Amino acid sequence: MKFFVDTADVDAIAELNDLGMVDGVTTNPSLIMKSGRDIREVTKQICGMIDGPVSAETVALDSDGMIAEGRELAKISDNIAIKVPLTWDGLKACRVLSGEGRMVNVTLCFSANQALLAAKAGATFISPFIGRLDDLNLDGMEVIGDIRTIYDNYGFETQILAASIRTANHMKEAALIGADVATAPPAVIQAMVSHALTDKGLDAFLKDWEKTGQKIL
Ligand code: E4P
Repeated sequence: MKFFVDTADVDAIAELNDLGMVDGVTTNPSLIMKSGRDIREVTKQICGMIDGPVSAETVALDSDGMIAEGRELAKISDNIAIKVPLTWDGLKACRVLSGEGRMVNVTLCFSANQALLAAKAGATFISPFIGRLDDLNLDGMEVIGDIRTIYDNYGFETQILAASIRTANHMKEAALIGADVATAPPAVIQAMVSHALTDKGLDAFLKDWEKTGQKIL
């Protein structure tokens, strides 16, 4: 499973990228606002840091506006994936932009039916939002599983990009169920390393090592 980082924080991206943990980046208007930076400036910097897709989101509501904004965002770098919302206009924009050979990430997906439409419209990525479904006591991971089955049934090449990931457990579940990509905040990716038994075991080893009085260096 590929890891995308869901942030516009360049320091956090750099830290994970140094460890080989970054296959791509996703941003959205809220993350750009959080960064406090200009969308073109910060997106260009991120695109220069990594080789993989960097999602930048349109904000128009009509397809013509989304297409114009998408083309503008794509000028930032060759590795831009244009993000459009899962509306009828978003699907129209997806069809046009993907027909121009551009990467398109269809976002704000909450059902398998929506994902089926996005694949038919030629999406490169479909972004089902797990956490926001879980917030409503719905099963976000079940939606990912349904999309996996449908895409496999018909050989759709659209990549399932599990989004709105809130916990390390979401990462494991997304990997088990067959998501192609998971995008998560840096803190969630870092949390995947934690295990109480690792900490406990390390502590015990270090205490015993101290008793030996030896040194390695
Ligand atoms: C990614 O593309 C999405 O914008 C993001 O995962 C949304 O996450 P949130 O529901 O935690 O805001």
